[in-house]
Amino acid sequence: MLILLFACADEDSGDPVIYAFPEGFRWGAASAAHQVEGGNTNNNWYQFETLPEFAGKTDEPSGAATEFYTRYEADFDLLERMGADVFRLSIEWSRVERSRDTWDEAEWDHYRAVIEALRARDIEPMVTLHHFTDPIWVQDLSDLDCEAGPTDTNMCGWTNPEVPAEFAEFSGEAATRLGDLVDEWSTFNEPGGYVLSGYLGGAFPPGYSNLTVDGIQENVIPVMEALATANALAYDAVKAADRSDANSDNVIANVGFTNSIQWIVPLDEDNPDDVAAAERIQSLYGYAFPDAVILGKLDRDLDGTPEEDHPEWANKCDLLGYQYYYRMPVKYQASFPPVEAIPCDASVLEALGMSLSDFGCPEPHPDDITQMGYEHYSPGLGLLAEPMAERYPGVQLRVTEAGIATTTGKRRAESIVRQLVGLHAAIEDGQPVDGYIHWSLTDNFEWAEGFRPRFGLYSVDYDTMERSVTEGATVLGQIIKDNGIRQSVYDSYGVGEHLSPGE
Ligand code: BGC
Repeated sequence: MLILLFACADEDSGDPVIYAFPEGFRWGAASAAHQVEGGNTNNNWYQFETLPEFAGKTDEPSGAATEFYTRYEADFDLLERMGADVFRLSIEWSRVERSRDTWDEAEWDHYRAVIEALRARDIEPMVTLHHFTDPIWVQDLSDLDCEAGPTDTNMCGWTNPEVPAEFAEFSGEAATRLGDLVDEWSTFNEPGGYVLSGYLGGAFPPGYSNLTVDGIQENVIPVMEALATANALAYDAVKAADRSDANSDNVIANVGFTNSIQWIVPLDEDNPDDVAAAERIQSLYGYAFPDAVILGKLDRDLDGTPEEDHPEWANKCDLLGYQYYYRMPVKYQASFPPVEAIPCDASVLEALGMSLSDFGCPEPHPDDITQMGYEHYSPGLGLLAEPMAERYPGVQLRVTEAGIATTTGKRRAESIVRQLVGLHAAIEDGQPVDGYIHWSLTDNFEWAEGFRPRFGLYSVDYDTMERSVTEGATVLGQIIKDNGIRQSVYDSYGVGEHLSPGE
């Protein structure tokens, strides 16, 4: 019915495109190796999911995931059908370098075949080099204390200065081998999230949970510094190794990273303490890493002002991806140094043994809470473009993830249309956003939350691995085809009450 309606709709029939995106705007979807490929036992997430000492950290193991490793051609057919021109995927470091300094030729061939399959469909690859997973030899979770000191099979983690250098070596190798097919590279995906979840909250490997000043200074800051160093080294390695323009568009190697940034607001916007607390949290959550690798600045004491200069990290990002999922109020709380703030985030508070109501944090409306437990707030995506563009002038921006965990296809479509209306306004306003990449092409393994949250434009039946279209894919496909939002699409999905995301 819907498809029929779209098929008949055109400008002449009174169904004009009312939100047109700029010519050449990029449209696509995203994935990450560990969340979809399946069957890899060589990285720290595999250990985190299966070692008895981490029992309960993840809801279930990733196992076969969505079997993307063997089903990628069929998944790319779905992407092609939607008219997408870009796909974000990651190369799993622990597959191509299972043991330190030994390349696995068959795995490199595999990634070459995957990327060629995209190119055969005229879809540009945007390749991530690190999406939350480390090879076991970088840090073996079964020997986390690493008392014997670093070895080739356990380098004791990112703070060993040889690890950033190893990452750069892998990045350069990827660019040497695949540069003829790839023009867009991301070093790290959400390095801030990787560090905070792994070294402060404990939800990611290595599972450190120490929400204190000491915890931040001992665990978080040194890893952040190591990742900033790794980014600089990898940026240079990719630039040096990738000398070929894969699609003759005069772009040889656009190198950047993808950053998680959320719509963080003061709980009481008339209270200057809450306003300052929200700024400090945003500085830690959303700006710490881009400040480091674009501005060359570090906010070591987390007072909200990055005052420490690191010219050796600066200007190592051509393309800044931004990834947006939720709104979060923040309250001033002197008893939570050093940020003196309490995020109204149910999962953070749960880790502290507290609840939203303990701090007077509002409960979001049930229809706005997604399967992830946070509040979906569509305007945030567009609203974030201006502060990022102002903070990082001259850097190209792209939405590299936005999505919603929902079992209701129409709710996904509503989210897409509403977020894009906001993004369109930001672009009209002059913000340099050149594309929208949806998270995710298919349902997948959602890290600590397992397979329950459903982010896919296509849903996956995990018994049969069958993919089925959601209304989100149909509507995004129509928007891609139109390079904008038609009146009929806006009327059906963009206004009025929206549905609940479901359980
Ligand atoms: C990550 C993805 C994740 C998505 C949804 C992003 O933080 O890059 O790996 O699946 O959010 O939670």
